[in-house]
Amino acid sequence: MKKLQVAVLGATGMIGQRFVQLLEGHPYFEIGGLYASERSEGKTLGDVLSLKGVRFQEETLNTRIEVLEPKAVANRCRLAFSGLPAEVAKGTESALAGEGVAVFSNAASHRMRDDVPLLIPEVNPDHIELVRTQATFANGGFITTNANCSTTGLAVPLQAVYKEFGLKACYVSTYQALSGAGYPGVPSMDILGNVVPFIKNEEEKMEQEIHKMLGTLKDGRVRFADFDMVASCARVPVVDGHLESAVLKLGREADAAAVVSSLESFKPAPQELKLPTAPVRPIIVRREDNRPQPAADALAGEPERARGMAVSVGRVRESKGYIKFWLLSHNTLRGGAGGSVLNAELAVAKKLL
Ligand SMILES: NC(=O)c1ccc[n+]([C@@H]2O[C@H](COP(=O)([O-])OP(=O)(O)OC[C@H]3O[C@@H](n4cnc5c(N)ncnc54)[C@H](OP(=O)(O)O)[C@@H]3O)[C@@H](O)[C@H]2O)c1
Repeated sequence: MKKLQVAVLGATGMIGQRFVQLLEGHPYFEIGGLYASERSEGKTLGDVLSLKGVRFQEETLNTRIEVLEPKAVANRCRLAFSGLPAEVAKGTESALAGEGVAVFSNAASHRMRDDVPLLIPEVNPDHIELVRTQATFANGGFITTNANCSTTGLAVPLQAVYKEFGLKACYVSTYQALSGAGYPGVPSMDILGNVVPFIKNEEEKMEQEIHKMLGTLKDGRVRFADFDMVASCARVPVVDGHLESAVLKLGREADAAAVVSSLESFKPAPQELKLPTAPVRPIIVRREDNRPQPAADALAGEPERARGMAVSVGRVRESKGYIKFWLLSHNTLRGGAGGSVLNAELAVAKKLL
C-alpha cells in the first residue's frame, strides 16, 4: 500500500507531539506537514519539543512548523490528525472536511454531532459508518472524533462488562494526569504536593459521551445506551496516565470472577483486524493488590507500536451488590493521539480512505 500523506494539526502540543511519535515509521501513513498557530511559524519541531523520554528521528526534529491554512493542508494531505483546542477545531476541521480531507480529531467540538462518530474501535467500530451521512463525504472529506481521555479509559472495560451483563449504573472517580491539561498545563505551584478536585467540563463530558459510545447504531442514527453515569474528576501530580475508580451496578448479578473473565476474553475488532496500533490484549487485568499504578502501567500494551494503548484494570471486587475496580489508561496515547491513529487505521481497513 502506498503511504497516505497526513497532516498533524496542533503539532507543537501534547497530543500533536504524540501524533508525530506514532506516525514515525507508520506502515500506512506518512507525515506530510506539521501545523500550529502563528506563534510557532518557522520554528522546527526540535525547537518546541516538550515531550520527555521519546526519541525522534533527526529529520522529524528538523521539520518546520507551518501556519494552519485548510486549503494548503488539503493540497498536500489526504488525512489530518487534529490536536487543536476545541474553539479552533470547530471551524478548522469543518473547513478541512469541506476541502475533501478526512479529519481524525481529539477535540470536543464535533463529538456529539448526530453524523459524527465518537469512535473507539474496541468499543463501537460500526459507528464509523456514520461518516457516510456527512455532507462532505461524497467529496472524500469527513470528521471522526475520539472521546475525552478519561472517558476512553473507562469505555473499553465498561463495554466488555456491559455486553455480557448489562449495566444499570456507573459511578466513577478520576485521578487525572497533568499532561491531560495540555502544555504547559497546570502551574507547578498549584499542583506540586496537591490534588485539585476540579477539571472544567470534564464530569459533564464523561457523563454525556459514554452513552453515545456504548449506544447502538440503527438506521443511520445512534440510540444512546441507557444507564446512570456519575463522574467526579480530580487533577493529581502525575505526568501521564489517568487512574479511575469505577463502581458498577450490573444489569444482572455476577461475581468478580465472572467480570474478570469478561474483561480478559474481550477480543474486539482492532485485534481481530490486527490493526498496527491495536494492543494484543486491549484490557490487562492485574492480580496484585496495588496495581494498576501510573508509574508502572501507563505504557502497558504490546507490540512496541501499541505501547500505552492497553487499559489496565485491577482490584476487581464485589461490595454490597456492586462491582468495583480500578482502571488506568495513558491519556495522550490511548486517550488521545493513539486513539485517533487507531480510528484512521480502522478507516483504512473499512476502505473509507
Ligand atoms: N492532553 C490530553 O490528554 C488530551 C486527551 C484527549 C483529547 N485532548 C484534546 O486534544 C486537543 C489538544 O490538546 P493538547 O493537550 O495537545 O493541547 P496543547 O498542548 O495546548 O496544544 C494545543 C495545540 O494547538 C495549537 N493551536 C492553538 N491555537 C491555534 C490556532 N489558532 N491555529 C492553529 N493551531 C493552534 C497550538 O499551537 P501553538 O503552539 O502554535 O500555540 C498547539 O500545537 C484539545 O482539544 C484537548 O481537549 C487532549
